[in-house]
Amino acid sequence: MIYDHSLEREARKSLQRLLPRVEQTLKKEISKDKKGWKQFNTRLQKNFPALFNLYFEIYNDRYDFFYHLEDLLISIARSWFNRPIDLRELDATREKNPLWFQSNQMLGGVCYVDLFANDLEGVKSKIPYFKELGLTYLHLMPLFKTPEGENDGGYAVSSYRDVHPPLGTMEQLASLACEFRRAGISLVVDLVFNHTSDEHLWAERAKAGDDEYADFYRIFPNRQLPDLYEQNLREIFPEEHAGAFTFFSELFNEGGWVWTTFHSYQWDLNYANPAVFNRMAEEMLFLANQGVEVLRLDAVAFIWKQLGTGCENLPEAHTLIKAFNAVARIASPSLVFKSEAIVHPDDVVKYISPGECQISYNPLLMALLWNTLATRKTDLLSQALATRFKIHPETAWVNYVRVHDDIGWTFSDEDAAMLGINGNDHRRFLNEFYRGRFTGSFSRGLPFQENLATGDCRISGTCASLAGLEKALHEEGAPEVELAIRRILLIHGIILTVGGIPLIYLGDEVGTLNDYTYRDDPAHERDSRWVHRPRTDWEKYEKRNDANTVEGRVFQGLNMLIDLRKQHEVFAGGELEIIPTENEHVLGFTRIHAGKRAVIFANFSEQPQMVSSRVIEQYAIQDKHILHGQSSISPQRYLSLEPLDFVVFG
Ligand code: GLC
Ligand code: GLC
Repeated sequence: MIYDHSLEREARKSLQRLLPRVEQTLKKEISKDKKGWKQFNTRLQKNFPALFNLYFEIYNDRYDFFYHLEDLLISIARSWFNRPIDLRELDATREKNPLWFQSNQMLGGVCYVDLFANDLEGVKSKIPYFKELGLTYLHLMPLFKTPEGENDGGYAVSSYRDVHPPLGTMEQLASLACEFRRAGISLVVDLVFNHTSDEHLWAERAKAGDDEYADFYRIFPNRQLPDLYEQNLREIFPEEHAGAFTFFSELFNEGGWVWTTFHSYQWDLNYANPAVFNRMAEEMLFLANQGVEVLRLDAVAFIWKQLGTGCENLPEAHTLIKAFNAVARIASPSLVFKSEAIVHPDDVVKYISPGECQISYNPLLMALLWNTLATRKTDLLSQALATRFKIHPETAWVNYVRVHDDIGWTFSDEDAAMLGINGNDHRRFLNEFYRGRFTGSFSRGLPFQENLATGDCRISGTCASLAGLEKALHEEGAPEVELAIRRILLIHGIILTVGGIPLIYLGDEVGTLNDYTYRDDPAHERDSRWVHRPRTDWEKYEKRNDANTVEGRVFQGLNMLIDLRKQHEVFAGGELEIIPTENEHVLGFTRIHAGKRAVIFANFSEQPQMVSSRVIEQYAIQDKHILHGQSSISPQRYLSLEPLDFVVFG
């Protein structure tokens, strides 16, 4: 065991040994770009000890450790030489303002290239719309080369360097990133690094019997180890295949079992092999050099496997992500990582730190917003915001109500138990409620990955359909439509003000309903998430400024909330305090930033509610301006809240 200080010394010594070899290999590049080399060297000297530490932690028992380290350094340096000047300038700007993503101007959006606008040129033509909405961050769903037919919505990547041909080319993506930057929008794409598609060149070579590439994956000649592993593994897509392995007859002579956490055509990579880390680091820097500013690290929880464990959220997964982060700090310093860990809240936060993922989905807030709409009780949500919302001051949550995936009820059973709620029973209730099977439910959702053995499932559906708009429009009438719209605006109000980056799943801003036609498409029929992935209906968008339409009411309501956020600096950063409102239906919190304070109340019930004069006086709300909402303070100084109202004082 080497102690930290001596590890630092070893790191310096290793760099001294390696640098001349790197310089020798890259002689030509260095002589052409001396200034670039100097910049690179400065960042390398600063960040190499961290990288060395992390790489050493994972790979120190490899006889060929030093070989892979040199290989990594050369590819990092090479990527830097390929980094365009404008991105190098962006690097310098962001190093001066590393907390740019905490601004109240930030507003995220996410969409599929093909479903939203056919192809990359189409997306470019929508820039005026993105600006109208106020987006400063746009996540384009996986747009890389992917198998025809089933491909998990692009999450089965066949090449990280090619755009899926119907969508366009890598050159077009780079040019789009440039146009976005000019429009003040950061391009976000996925780094699907837990697995590749079984059509990726690495997988093809493994299939052809090339040992070097077979080592890129976790392939077993028989069931012996898979059986042992499976004793501790959760099934992720049980409707598609049981367990975590898939048999492929073309492997070895008698066939072999490949680790496939998700679908059978998504082969998990083997990060115990340093070559996999090095090649993926190259792909990562390649994407950064196209102008991608934020990488959404897909399925972070699964990247390390260890016999005898559940193979999720293992310490080595963090070490690996930190090592990728150290690589980025050296050769694409403006790059930000976003964690996609849809797991227990104790585990979600472990991915978030300046040295790992600077931003992260907030699946707990998402799930609890839906929970609160169903129960009309704010206790779980209040508790979560009070105890689990605070993260490192140099990081930020990405707060959302819907994305392309299902809703999993990932709250903590221990937290629920403190409020007298049984986690399992409650999840069952939420599933029934959102499937529309619970009496009085307003929701029209579908089950996803229902596990008939355990009775477990997750929920699919668009924001509007889950919030009651579909049922109200088709079966009820104007008053219920109004309530559904208020629900949509209420939960968006929270993500826009609570602190962090709000993320809108495009389509939700015009109240898009479920689309059941996925059932007619053989590539989608088995995956209910497609119910909330419809092709964009631009006629709906045309109604967005007409207050007599549902689309217009949702869009304009949302716009007011976006303006509220952008006009008040108090919504920057992430500092929040919960207000005990003494009313179980009303969530209350204050936001504090730059010496300013805003107070927010959200009524999750369809009935009027009140907040007592004591609370109003304690927070001096009577002296503040009402910045948003319909409600008012009575002459007796209590706050009377309209049904499902979202009120902001500042
Ligand atoms: C992520 C994606 C999801 C995909 C899975 C496998 O969780 O969000 O859509 O199915 O990873 O890549
Ligand atoms: C699982 C994974 C999560 C992924 C989801 C897709 O819940 O933990 O990462 O988004 O499946 O449905």
